[in-house]
Amino acid sequence: MRVRLGQVDLPNPVLAAAGCAGAGRELAHFNDISRIGAVVSKSIMTEPWTGNPAPRLAETPSGLLNSVGLQGPGIDVFLQRDLPWLLSRGARVVVSIAGQTAREYGVLASRLADAAGVSAVEINLSCPNAEDAGRPFALDPGTAGTVVAAVRGSLRYDIPVFAKLSPDVTDIVAVAGACVASGTDGLSLINVLLGMAIDPGTMRPALAGACGGLSGPAIRPVAVRCVWQVREAFPDVPIIGTGGVRTGRDALELLLAGASVIGVGTALIHDPSACPRVLRELEEELAAIGVGRVADIIGQAHGGIPHGLPGRREGQKM
Ligand code: DHB
Repeated sequence: MRVRLGQVDLPNPVLAAAGCAGAGRELAHFNDISRIGAVVSKSIMTEPWTGNPAPRLAETPSGLLNSVGLQGPGIDVFLQRDLPWLLSRGARVVVSIAGQTAREYGVLASRLADAAGVSAVEINLSCPNAEDAGRPFALDPGTAGTVVAAVRGSLRYDIPVFAKLSPDVTDIVAVAGACVASGTDGLSLINVLLGMAIDPGTMRPALAGACGGLSGPAIRPVAVRCVWQVREAFPDVPIIGTGGVRTGRDALELLLAGASVIGVGTALIHDPSACPRVLRELEEELAAIGVGRVADIIGQAHGGIPHGLPGRREGQKM
């Protein structure tokens, strides 16, 4: 199950996605976190931040809405407390960073450049709950590229960066292309979709922040589509596939679409052991179809390779 993600070797392709496991401590009550492919830490900012007012969570039939607002201890505490703790537990750490300006992302990157033990950096360009709500950097190719360039310019080249994009765009391939042109090593697809729930009892928005990010099974087909489209356009760019993965079969679908590794996020909230379970189920899925190595399955939904199926169907006059 070993996989390579950019320059990084991981023991398996199942990651804990950013935001649903803090900096890993909560998961460690339930799992040996050294056996998770990697832990992607909750997006960290330059300063401590209290986040948005409550209520911050609203359940919908097949997904979770959140408006956390990037609550976190700030980069100093992360580097002094959280990163050493994760490393002491044998975890591989992908650090997710978020800022209000490209300069802030650059500052975070330069702080991480001096830290030992960072496997990769995920640039969160797609938080739906930041101050400039509704205008995450990933909505615009030029802005996304500027942030990627600021990070890449401040980080050592042996630390790969993955730009995490938003599905709330007309053309995700254009945003991915701008990030690749600006030096990102890989992409992380997808972040939440912007959503909203209204409580008919109070006639008010269910979240104090009104709108929030939708995650969970509801968004998985969107994730599969985004991963597939970006892989089709940039077959050599590694992708971390996230979005509604709950089972090994879900993970397999994203790998087939072209993700090199997958992240489990919202599922952790009701099943903190979801990472080892999804890994076990993925191993069973691969064994059932006679595939020995994960690497052999990545991107196999493309280009008519399996069983001679055509990759694209042409329309026909009726
Ligand atoms: C938050 C950030 C995200 O990137 C996301 O997908 C959801 C929530 C936040 O902290 O508000």
